[in-house]
Amino acid sequence: MERSNPPAGGEKIILTGMRPTGVLHIGHYFGVIPELLKLQNEADRLFLMIADLHALTTLEDSKNLAENSLILANTYLAAGIDPSKTTIFIQSHVGEHAELANIFSMITPVSMLELNPTYKEMRTEHPKNNNLGLLVYPVLQAADILIYKATHVPVGKDQAPHIELAREIARRFNARFGKVFPEPKTILQKESKILSLHDPKRKMSKSHKEESFISLLDSPEAIRKKMKIAVTDSGKEIKYDEKKKPAISNLLTVYSLFLGKEIKEIEKMYKNSGYRDFKNDLAEVIITGLTPLQKKYKELENNPEQVKSILKQGALNAKQTASKTIETVCRKVGFLA
Ligand code: TRP
Repeated sequence: MERSNPPAGGEKIILTGMRPTGVLHIGHYFGVIPELLKLQNEADRLFLMIADLHALTTLEDSKNLAENSLILANTYLAAGIDPSKTTIFIQSHVGEHAELANIFSMITPVSMLELNPTYKEMRTEHPKNNNLGLLVYPVLQAADILIYKATHVPVGKDQAPHIELAREIARRFNARFGKVFPEPKTILQKESKILSLHDPKRKMSKSHKEESFISLLDSPEAIRKKMKIAVTDSGKEIKYDEKKKPAISNLLTVYSLFLGKEIKEIEKMYKNSGYRDFKNDLAEVIITGLTPLQKKYKELENNPEQVKSILKQGALNAKQTASKTIETVCRKVGFLA
Protein backbone atom coordinates (compact mmCIF):
# COMPACT_ATOMS: atom_id res chain seq x y z
CA MET A 1 0.00 0.00 0.00
CA GLU A 2 1.44 3.31 -1.08
CA ARG A 3 1.07 6.24 1.27
CA SER A 4 2.90 9.45 1.87
CA ASN A 5 4.25 10.21 5.32
CA PRO A 6 1.72 11.35 7.90
CA PRO A 7 1.83 15.09 8.50
CA ALA A 8 3.41 16.39 11.67
CA GLY A 9 0.88 16.54 14.47
CA GLY A 10 -0.73 13.18 13.99
CA GLU A 11 -2.64 11.05 11.55
CA LYS A 12 -4.78 12.43 8.80
CA ILE A 13 -8.02 10.51 8.91
CA ILE A 14 -10.51 11.61 6.31
CA LEU A 15 -14.17 10.79 5.94
CA THR A 16 -16.51 12.05 3.32
CA GLY A 17 -19.84 10.97 1.94
CA MET A 18 -22.41 11.54 -0.71
CA ARG A 19 -26.07 10.63 -0.87
CA PRO A 20 -26.78 8.12 -3.64
CA THR A 21 -29.02 10.01 -6.03
CA GLY A 22 -28.10 8.43 -9.36
CA VAL A 23 -25.54 9.13 -12.02
CA LEU A 24 -23.01 11.94 -11.55
CA HIS A 25 -22.43 14.67 -14.13
CA ILE A 26 -19.27 16.20 -15.56
CA GLY A 27 -19.30 18.94 -12.90
CA HIS A 28 -18.75 16.29 -10.23
CA TYR A 29 -16.17 14.61 -12.41
CA PHE A 30 -13.93 17.67 -12.45
CA GLY A 31 -14.82 18.82 -8.94
CA VAL A 32 -15.20 16.18 -6.26
CA ILE A 33 -13.48 13.25 -7.96
CA PRO A 34 -9.96 14.68 -8.51
CA GLU A 35 -9.88 15.80 -4.89
CA LEU A 36 -10.74 12.29 -3.70
CA LEU A 37 -8.08 10.74 -5.91
CA LYS A 38 -5.53 13.10 -4.42
CA LEU A 39 -6.65 12.43 -0.86
CA GLN A 40 -6.61 8.68 -1.27
CA ASN A 41 -2.83 8.92 -1.70
CA GLU A 42 -2.23 11.60 0.91
CA ALA A 43 -4.38 10.51 3.83
CA ASP A 44 -3.47 7.91 6.41
CA ARG A 45 -7.02 6.64 6.06
CA LEU A 46 -9.76 7.66 3.65
CA PHE A 47 -13.30 6.56 4.42
CA LEU A 48 -15.64 7.08 1.47
CA MET A 49 -19.24 6.53 2.46
CA ILE A 50 -22.36 6.17 0.38
CA ALA A 51 -24.94 7.88 2.59
CA ASP A 52 -28.04 5.79 1.94
CA LEU A 53 -29.52 6.41 5.39
CA HIS A 54 -29.32 10.14 4.78
CA ALA A 55 -31.01 9.67 1.41
CA LEU A 56 -34.01 8.22 3.25
CA THR A 57 -34.75 11.62 4.79
CA THR A 58 -36.13 12.98 1.53
CA LEU A 59 -38.72 11.25 -0.59
CA GLU A 60 -37.18 11.90 -4.00
CA ASP A 61 -33.81 10.53 -2.88
CA SER A 62 -35.23 7.41 -1.28
CA LYS A 63 -36.41 5.98 -4.59
CA ASN A 64 -34.30 3.18 -6.13
CA LEU A 65 -31.95 3.30 -3.16
CA ALA A 66 -30.12 0.03 -3.75
CA GLU A 67 -29.70 0.72 -7.44
CA ASN A 68 -28.47 4.25 -6.81
CA SER A 69 -25.99 3.07 -4.21
CA LEU A 70 -24.53 0.65 -6.73
CA ILE A 71 -24.40 3.36 -9.41
CA LEU A 72 -22.43 5.63 -7.07
CA ALA A 73 -20.06 2.83 -6.07
CA ASN A 74 -19.48 1.90 -9.73
CA THR A 75 -18.82 5.55 -10.56
CA TYR A 76 -16.26 6.00 -7.79
CA LEU A 77 -14.48 2.78 -8.75
CA ALA A 78 -14.57 3.55 -12.47
CA ALA A 79 -13.14 7.00 -11.75
CA GLY A 80 -10.13 5.53 -9.97
CA ILE A 81 -11.06 5.08 -6.33
CA ASP A 82 -8.88 2.18 -5.27
CA PRO A 83 -10.36 -0.07 -2.57
CA SER A 84 -6.87 -1.11 -1.48
CA LYS A 85 -6.26 2.51 -0.43
CA THR A 86 -9.76 3.79 0.31
CA THR A 87 -12.36 2.24 2.57
CA ILE A 88 -15.45 2.54 0.39
CA PHE A 89 -18.69 1.39 1.99
CA ILE A 90 -22.43 1.83 2.40
CA GLN A 91 -23.57 3.76 5.47
CA SER A 92 -26.41 1.38 6.37
CA HIS A 93 -23.99 -1.58 6.34
CA VAL A 94 -22.24 -0.18 9.39
CA GLY A 95 -24.95 -0.10 12.03
CA GLU A 96 -22.63 1.63 14.50
CA HIS A 97 -23.31 4.97 12.79
CA ALA A 98 -26.96 4.86 13.83
CA GLU A 99 -26.00 3.67 17.30
CA LEU A 100 -23.62 6.55 17.86
CA ALA A 101 -26.12 9.03 16.37
CA ASN A 102 -28.65 7.89 18.95
CA ILE A 103 -26.25 8.54 21.81
CA PHE A 104 -25.26 11.91 20.32
CA SER A 105 -28.93 12.89 20.13
CA MET A 106 -29.01 12.87 23.94
CA ILE A 107 -26.46 15.69 24.14
CA THR A 108 -27.74 17.77 21.21
CA PRO A 109 -30.24 20.53 21.95
CA VAL A 110 -33.22 20.55 19.59
CA SER A 111 -32.91 24.34 19.28
CA MET A 112 -29.43 23.94 17.80
CA LEU A 113 -30.78 21.63 15.11
CA GLU A 114 -33.72 23.89 14.35
CA LEU A 115 -31.25 26.65 13.49
CA ASN A 116 -29.47 24.49 10.92
CA PRO A 117 -29.73 26.29 7.55
CA THR A 118 -30.39 23.12 5.52
CA TYR A 119 -33.23 22.18 7.84
CA LYS A 120 -34.76 25.64 7.65
CA GLU A 121 -34.54 25.54 3.87
CA MET A 122 -36.19 22.11 3.69
CA ARG A 123 -38.96 23.28 5.97
CA THR A 124 -39.85 26.14 3.66
CA GLU A 125 -39.30 24.32 0.38
CA HIS A 126 -40.96 21.04 1.32
CA PRO A 127 -43.27 21.86 4.23
CA LYS A 128 -44.93 18.44 4.01
CA ASN A 129 -41.65 16.61 4.43
CA ASN A 130 -41.19 17.21 8.12
CA ASN A 131 -39.78 14.02 9.53
CA LEU A 132 -37.60 13.70 12.58
CA GLY A 133 -34.82 12.25 10.43
CA LEU A 134 -34.50 15.57 8.68
CA LEU A 135 -34.07 17.40 11.96
CA VAL A 136 -31.43 14.97 13.24
CA TYR A 137 -29.69 14.71 9.86
CA PRO A 138 -26.59 16.55 11.16
CA VAL A 139 -26.45 14.33 14.25
CA LEU A 140 -26.15 11.26 12.03
CA GLN A 141 -23.59 13.12 9.94
CA ALA A 142 -21.60 13.91 13.10
CA ALA A 143 -21.69 10.21 13.97
CA ASP A 144 -20.47 9.31 10.43
CA ILE A 145 -17.45 11.50 10.98
CA LEU A 146 -16.67 10.99 14.66
CA ILE A 147 -17.08 7.22 14.71
CA TYR A 148 -13.79 7.07 12.76
CA LYS A 149 -12.31 9.94 14.75
CA ALA A 150 -11.86 11.67 11.42
CA THR A 151 -9.61 14.70 11.55
CA HIS A 152 -10.61 16.17 8.18
CA VAL A 153 -13.86 16.23 6.22
CA PRO A 154 -13.91 17.37 2.59
CA VAL A 155 -17.31 18.88 1.74
CA GLY A 156 -18.94 21.58 -0.35
CA LYS A 157 -19.77 24.98 1.12
CA ASP A 158 -23.40 24.00 1.79
CA GLN A 159 -22.25 21.28 4.19
CA ALA A 160 -19.96 23.48 6.29
CA PRO A 161 -22.64 24.16 8.97
CA HIS A 162 -23.03 20.40 9.42
CA ILE A 163 -19.32 19.98 10.12
CA GLU A 164 -19.50 22.88 12.58
CA LEU A 165 -22.28 20.96 14.36
CA ALA A 166 -20.12 17.85 14.39
CA ARG A 167 -17.39 19.84 16.12
CA GLU A 168 -19.91 21.16 18.64
CA ILE A 169 -21.16 17.64 19.35
CA ALA A 170 -17.57 16.41 19.78
CA ARG A 171 -16.90 19.24 22.26
CA ARG A 172 -20.07 18.53 24.21
CA PHE A 173 -19.34 14.82 24.40
CA ASN A 174 -15.73 15.35 25.44
CA ALA A 175 -16.70 17.93 28.06
CA ARG A 176 -19.34 15.73 29.59
CA PHE A 177 -17.86 12.24 29.37
CA GLY A 178 -14.12 12.74 28.87
CA LYS A 179 -12.07 13.21 25.75
CA VAL A 180 -12.85 10.70 23.05
CA PHE A 181 -13.26 12.69 19.84
CA PRO A 182 -11.07 15.07 17.84
CA GLU A 183 -12.71 18.21 16.45
CA PRO A 184 -12.79 17.52 12.72
CA LYS A 185 -11.61 20.20 10.31
CA THR A 186 -13.50 21.10 7.16
CA ILE A 187 -11.67 20.82 3.85
CA LEU A 188 -13.71 23.10 1.59
CA GLN A 189 -14.09 21.45 -1.78
CA LYS A 190 -13.61 23.57 -4.86
CA GLU A 191 -16.91 24.45 -6.40
CA SER A 192 -17.54 23.04 -9.83
CA LYS A 193 -16.92 25.66 -12.48
CA ILE A 194 -19.23 23.98 -14.96
CA LEU A 195 -22.56 25.69 -15.58
CA SER A 196 -25.84 24.55 -17.07
CA LEU A 197 -25.85 24.06 -20.86
CA HIS A 198 -29.32 25.51 -20.93
CA ASP A 199 -28.95 28.44 -18.57
CA PRO A 200 -25.33 29.49 -17.95
CA LYS A 201 -26.35 31.61 -14.98
CA ARG A 202 -26.90 28.46 -12.92
CA LYS A 203 -24.56 25.66 -11.99
CA MET A 204 -24.84 22.38 -13.85
CA SER A 205 -27.20 20.23 -11.81
CA LYS A 206 -28.98 16.91 -12.11
CA SER A 207 -32.13 18.44 -10.73
CA HIS A 208 -32.49 20.67 -13.79
CA LYS A 209 -33.64 19.67 -17.28
CA GLU A 210 -32.05 16.60 -18.85
CA GLU A 211 -30.48 18.59 -21.71
CA SER A 212 -28.85 21.04 -19.29
CA PHE A 213 -26.25 18.59 -17.99
CA ILE A 214 -23.95 15.88 -19.32
CA SER A 215 -24.01 12.77 -17.23
CA LEU A 216 -20.90 10.62 -17.01
CA LEU A 217 -22.83 7.80 -18.63
CA ASP A 218 -24.40 9.72 -21.53
CA SER A 219 -24.13 7.93 -24.87
CA PRO A 220 -22.24 9.57 -27.75
CA GLU A 221 -25.58 10.31 -29.45
CA ALA A 222 -26.93 11.99 -26.32
CA ILE A 223 -23.78 14.09 -25.96
CA ARG A 224 -23.90 15.17 -29.61
CA LYS A 225 -27.53 16.13 -29.25
CA LYS A 226 -27.00 18.06 -26.03
CA MET A 227 -24.12 19.97 -27.60
CA LYS A 228 -26.25 20.82 -30.64
CA ILE A 229 -28.95 22.38 -28.52
CA ALA A 230 -26.66 23.91 -25.88
CA VAL A 231 -27.36 27.65 -25.75
CA THR A 232 -24.81 30.08 -27.16
CA ASP A 233 -24.46 33.86 -27.01
CA SER A 234 -24.97 36.62 -29.55
CA GLY A 235 -22.04 37.37 -31.82
CA LYS A 236 -19.86 34.83 -33.57
CA GLU A 237 -16.55 34.98 -31.80
CA ILE A 238 -15.34 32.09 -29.67
CA LYS A 239 -13.93 34.04 -26.81
CA TYR A 240 -13.88 33.69 -23.03
CA ASP A 241 -15.91 36.53 -21.53
CA GLU A 242 -18.04 35.54 -18.54
CA LYS A 243 -20.12 38.71 -18.67
CA LYS A 244 -20.80 39.11 -22.38
CA LYS A 245 -20.50 35.48 -23.40
CA PRO A 246 -21.48 33.29 -20.45
CA ALA A 247 -22.58 30.31 -22.56
CA ILE A 248 -19.52 30.20 -24.81
CA SER A 249 -17.26 30.78 -21.79
CA ASN A 250 -18.84 27.77 -20.09
CA LEU A 251 -18.31 25.60 -23.17
CA LEU A 252 -14.70 26.78 -23.32
CA THR A 253 -14.28 25.75 -19.68
CA VAL A 254 -15.63 22.28 -20.42
CA TYR A 255 -13.42 22.01 -23.51
CA SER A 256 -10.35 23.03 -21.56
CA LEU A 257 -11.04 20.61 -18.71
CA PHE A 258 -11.51 17.65 -21.04
CA LEU A 259 -8.57 18.48 -23.26
CA GLY A 260 -6.24 19.59 -20.46
CA LYS A 261 -5.31 22.71 -22.45
CA GLU A 262 -5.52 26.38 -21.55
CA ILE A 263 -8.62 28.24 -22.64
CA LYS A 264 -6.41 30.68 -24.57
CA GLU A 265 -5.11 27.85 -26.74
CA ILE A 266 -8.60 26.68 -27.52
CA GLU A 267 -9.66 30.19 -28.46
CA LYS A 268 -6.76 30.24 -30.92
CA MET A 269 -7.81 26.91 -32.43
CA TYR A 270 -11.20 28.41 -33.23
CA LYS A 271 -10.16 31.88 -34.31
CA ASN A 272 -11.70 31.41 -37.72
CA SER A 273 -14.54 29.02 -36.89
CA GLY A 274 -18.16 29.39 -35.98
CA TYR A 275 -20.16 28.08 -33.05
CA ARG A 276 -21.32 25.03 -34.94
CA ASP A 277 -17.90 23.55 -35.62
CA PHE A 278 -16.79 24.44 -32.10
CA LYS A 279 -19.74 22.64 -30.52
CA ASN A 280 -19.42 19.62 -32.82
CA ASP A 281 -15.74 19.27 -31.94
CA LEU A 282 -16.48 19.72 -28.26
CA ALA A 283 -19.02 16.88 -28.39
CA GLU A 284 -16.31 14.57 -29.78
CA VAL A 285 -13.79 15.73 -27.17
CA ILE A 286 -16.26 14.94 -24.38
CA ILE A 287 -17.13 11.55 -25.89
CA THR A 288 -13.45 10.62 -26.15
CA GLY A 289 -12.74 11.96 -22.68
CA LEU A 290 -15.47 9.90 -21.08
CA THR A 291 -14.73 6.67 -22.96
CA PRO A 292 -12.20 5.13 -20.50
CA LEU A 293 -14.46 5.81 -17.51
CA GLN A 294 -17.52 4.48 -19.32
CA LYS A 295 -15.63 1.35 -20.32
CA LYS A 296 -14.63 0.63 -16.74
CA TYR A 297 -18.12 1.46 -15.57
CA LYS A 298 -19.64 -1.06 -18.00
CA GLU A 299 -17.28 -3.77 -16.75
CA LEU A 300 -18.29 -3.07 -13.16
CA GLU A 301 -21.96 -2.88 -14.09
CA ASN A 302 -21.66 -6.35 -15.57
CA ASN A 303 -20.10 -7.62 -12.34
CA PRO A 304 -22.38 -6.36 -9.58
CA GLU A 305 -21.31 -9.22 -7.32
CA GLN A 306 -17.71 -8.06 -7.48
CA VAL A 307 -18.69 -4.51 -6.56
CA LYS A 308 -20.94 -5.72 -3.77
CA SER A 309 -18.09 -7.74 -2.32
CA ILE A 310 -15.82 -4.66 -2.41
CA LEU A 311 -18.52 -2.78 -0.48
CA LYS A 312 -18.96 -5.64 1.99
CA GLN A 313 -15.22 -5.71 2.61
CA GLY A 314 -15.25 -1.93 3.00
CA ALA A 315 -18.00 -2.20 5.61
CA LEU A 316 -16.03 -4.88 7.48
CA ASN A 317 -12.93 -2.67 7.54
CA ALA A 318 -14.99 0.32 8.65
CA LYS A 319 -16.64 -1.75 11.37
CA GLN A 320 -13.28 -2.61 12.87
CA THR A 321 -12.74 1.03 13.74
CA ALA A 322 -16.39 1.87 14.36
CA SER A 323 -16.98 -0.92 16.86
CA LYS A 324 -13.95 0.13 18.90
CA THR A 325 -15.27 3.68 19.12
CA ILE A 326 -18.70 2.43 20.18
CA GLU A 327 -17.09 0.33 22.88
CA THR A 328 -15.24 3.34 24.25
CA VAL A 329 -18.38 5.50 24.04
CA CYS A 330 -20.52 2.94 25.88
CA ARG A 331 -17.93 2.78 28.64
CA LYS A 332 -17.59 6.57 28.87
CA VAL A 333 -21.34 7.22 29.08
CA GLY A 334 -21.58 4.58 31.78
CA PHE A 335 -23.51 1.66 30.29
CA LEU A 336 -23.13 -1.64 32.15
CA ALA A 337 -20.46 -3.60 30.34
N1 TRP B 1 -24.81 15.43 3.87
C1 TRP B 1 -23.84 15.16 2.84
C2 TRP B 1 -24.38 15.67 1.51
O1 TRP B 1 -25.55 15.80 1.34
C3 TRP B 1 -23.53 13.68 2.74
C4 TRP B 1 -22.90 13.17 4.00
C5 TRP B 1 -23.45 12.33 4.91
C6 TRP B 1 -21.59 13.49 4.49
N2 TRP B 1 -22.60 12.08 5.91
C7 TRP B 1 -21.46 12.76 5.71
C8 TRP B 1 -20.56 14.30 4.04
C9 TRP B 1 -20.30 12.89 6.48
C10 TRP B 1 -19.41 14.41 4.80
C11 TRP B 1 -19.28 13.70 6.03
O2 TRP B 1 -23.60 15.92 0.62
